[in-house]
Amino acid sequence: MKVSTGKTKFWAGGAGVLAASALVLAGCGGGGAGAGAKEEAPAESGEETVAVEGGDCGEGMVVGVAMPTQTSERWIADGNAVKEGLEGAGYTVDLQFANDDIPTQTQQIDQMITNGANVLVIASIDGTALSSQLDAAGAAGIPVVSYDRLIRDNENVDFYVSFDNYLVGVAQGTALLHGLGLVERDGTPVADAPKGPMNIELFAGSADDNNAGFFFNGAMDTIQPYIDEGTLVVKSGQTAFDQVATLRWSQEAAQKRMEDLLSSTYADGSELAGVLSPFDGISRGIITALQGVGLGPTIAEGLPIVTGQDAEIASIKLINEDIQQSTIFKDTRKLADRSVQVVQDLACGVSPEANNTEDYDNGVKVVPSYLLDVVTIYKDNIEQEIVGSGYWTAEEVEAGVSK
Ligand code: BGC
Repeated sequence: MKVSTGKTKFWAGGAGVLAASALVLAGCGGGGAGAGAKEEAPAESGEETVAVEGGDCGEGMVVGVAMPTQTSERWIADGNAVKEGLEGAGYTVDLQFANDDIPTQTQQIDQMITNGANVLVIASIDGTALSSQLDAAGAAGIPVVSYDRLIRDNENVDFYVSFDNYLVGVAQGTALLHGLGLVERDGTPVADAPKGPMNIELFAGSADDNNAGFFFNGAMDTIQPYIDEGTLVVKSGQTAFDQVATLRWSQEAAQKRMEDLLSSTYADGSELAGVLSPFDGISRGIITALQGVGLGPTIAEGLPIVTGQDAEIASIKLINEDIQQSTIFKDTRKLADRSVQVVQDLACGVSPEANNTEDYDNGVKVVPSYLLDVVTIYKDNIEQEIVGSGYWTAEEVEAGVSK
């Protein structure tokens, strides 16, 4: 595969080698674009090549880590874990959170580049809003690792680390169907399942986050057959992604939309059986609206099934109390470890291991990716998966706050 950075042509067996080369340019050489890289005679292909050197790779390099927000625990945990891991490996880390504000994030990344970052690890707010920052990074030979959310429409994205976002959606759809008595936890249809019709409503994440579409598609591919056969009915008729998306994953916006749905569609007393929710913050907004009209307060007492994502401590408590039905546990410690590994690989001239080189097309190129597995959490596996793995302690689950 031939790849071009626009400055120097690289011969790369995989995109990771390109990234590694770029990193050597930016990092180990320690002096900006082109510094420290050994230009070699054109290879057989006739292209210029740049040698990737190992050595004291990483030591003393600066990694800019841009996280979207501190309003959700997962991003705080992600940021801290990535920082800790990189510092442990000898890097200096510039960690910034952007309060879900796009201009704040672009300024932070501009600043990282100005301050001489050698590598950038970025979890974007709006995946399409970082083009000038990525152009600048590309021009300076600074490799970019897209963290959890794919940065779109720019060639200067060297590697993507995330969870399997489509399978997160499948897991959310399966959890909803399971809560409605239609399938087992592994998705196997239940033999004497209810025939319905049962009413459900759908929520999706922020349309500017590339992940949101993957989650929604995975969930809908799982749920749609039950809608087609009439077992499930989306009573509001709002089934298109754009109709159900929630800008910035806002809990308040989700609560408001659920309240509107309840008054517009369910005021006649029709029963709502379940709500597909893509994120724990959104789930809590939905639950507040549902309880606000007197449903529940627990699932056993008639609260509709509500799914989630991220294993946020406030939602784990709700799951433990039979209020939220499920969440998808994405172990951010593993994602952080993987990212540190990717940065180190790039620094040392090793092509980072990818387990997906097909699905994450950012509009300009397919970005080599490493996707991690997720676990669906219900009340009865909190102990094993969440407490047992040390993600939250039993006291934290009880209190619903992190210590
Ligand atoms: C992440 C999810 C998270 C959501 C809201 C997505 O990009 O992949 O884990 O729930 O953002 O923060």
